[in-house]
Amino acid sequence: MGVVVGHGKAEFVVVANRLPVDLEQGPDGSDSWKRSPGGLVTALEPILRSRRGAWVGWPGLADAQADPFEDDGLELHPVDLTADDVENYYEGFSNDTLWPLYHDVVVPPSYHRHWWQAYVRVNQRFAEAVDTVAAEGATVWVQDYQLQLVPGQLRDRRPDLRIGFFLHIPFPPVELFHQLPWREQIVRGLLGADLVGFHTPGGVRNFRTLATRLAGATAGHGGVVYRGRDVKLGAFPVSIDFVALDKLSRTPEVIARAADIRHELGDPRHLLLGVDRLDYTKGINVRLRAFEELLAEERISADDTVFLQIATPSRERVEHYVRLRAEIEQTVGRINGEHSWIGRTPLSYLHQSLPREELTAFYLAADVMLVTPLRDGMNLVAKEYVACRHDDGGVLVLSEFTGAARELTSALLVNPHDTDGVKAALARAVEMPPDEARRRMRTLRRHVKRHDVDQWAHGFLDALGMPT
Ligand code: ADP
Ligand code: G6P
Repeated sequence: MGVVVGHGKAEFVVVANRLPVDLEQGPDGSDSWKRSPGGLVTALEPILRSRRGAWVGWPGLADAQADPFEDDGLELHPVDLTADDVENYYEGFSNDTLWPLYHDVVVPPSYHRHWWQAYVRVNQRFAEAVDTVAAEGATVWVQDYQLQLVPGQLRDRRPDLRIGFFLHIPFPPVELFHQLPWREQIVRGLLGADLVGFHTPGGVRNFRTLATRLAGATAGHGGVVYRGRDVKLGAFPVSIDFVALDKLSRTPEVIARAADIRHELGDPRHLLLGVDRLDYTKGINVRLRAFEELLAEERISADDTVFLQIATPSRERVEHYVRLRAEIEQTVGRINGEHSWIGRTPLSYLHQSLPREELTAFYLAADVMLVTPLRDGMNLVAKEYVACRHDDGGVLVLSEFTGAARELTSALLVNPHDTDGVKAALARAVEMPPDEARRRMRTLRRHVKRHDVDQWAHGFLDALGMPT
């Protein structure tokens, strides 16, 4: 982490709720920076570093008051959030209204007017921060559901800017979106952009319908016309840095660590793995239930099978997340209480975030990767698993309700609401003949290699007309 940087010079600005690094304060008051959680940072960090852009975002801590600084060629511009902003804008409106609403109301969203007011206020603050950082005529790329008003607010302040917006989560069906008391303001906010991007054509369709119905937009070439301006709409499925992960997974250290992990887990014949933020959309309970029933029915055996679930702590003060954690810990306790024996535990559960190298070794070690969300915009974990399997080994079990399932069709696709179907897929994955597993993995790898994060970013920025 280096020098303090100046203002108003950046030709390319990314603005996201979070910076790619989180500020952490130690008990002795010392500051350190740690990689931020989630798929958005995974996708954008390599792109921004290679283009030497500026990143405007929150450092992940209330009242941090951090100065702008440079980190390895990337300008980072912190936006301060007070404790009240964190509670009402971040935990409240972003993660207890929009997050559940956009994920098919997997849990009921809460609608509170003071949360909305905080959302408007904080979005305005992000727009002001971009205004200070962006050069005349710069390209600004606004990210995700926390900042949907920023495109409109920014256009009002800075009509000279080229503005793109990308939504990293699903855009909900029209009927569900209609629940939102501030639906019209959100749609108008997004229409401030020159290009609005989604993961899937379904998201584009839903948004087009709403823009027409709620904001009076009309059909246009490649999108809609709003207030006399063309707003392009498009589907851009996000991806990962395939080459970097493939390379990391081939290093002798990672290969040796993968072998150690299996050994430390008792050299099971079958190692199953789950890796997620601890989020109710991820269907962690779905896979735990399937595993438990298969053990109880003796279709898999605790003598030779271990399931390792790694869950990053996430949004820990939001009630639905508190409840989910308790439920999962209870289920883990029940399964192990029922099926363990001295020195042999079928389920390992880590509630922690792991370094990149360590995670890569886990992917390489696992025979079966379980990705079972009830709804997920993309799911990069599924693509990371594939990128790490340079040995063409491993079987991916993947929920149909992820964006990734549209691309990774050689995975074993499951409906997470169908417990018997998930059980059948899990049992099939464990017993899959190596030839079939390799054939499937090779196809998956070809796809992710060709459609990597660079291709995603190029696709979006070309459509936005960013000069290269
Ligand atoms: P989301 O964006 O909803 O969290 P994704 O699957 O798209 O879901 O992205 C999750 C990102 O977070 C991936 O890059 C994954 O490697 C990373 N991640 C998930 N769990 C962990 C963990 N326990 N330790 C470190 N990184 C993790
Ligand atoms: C998902 C969202 C991101 C978010 C990440 C981590 O990937 O799309 O916008 O940053 O989850 O969640 P958090 O609330 O910790 O930022």
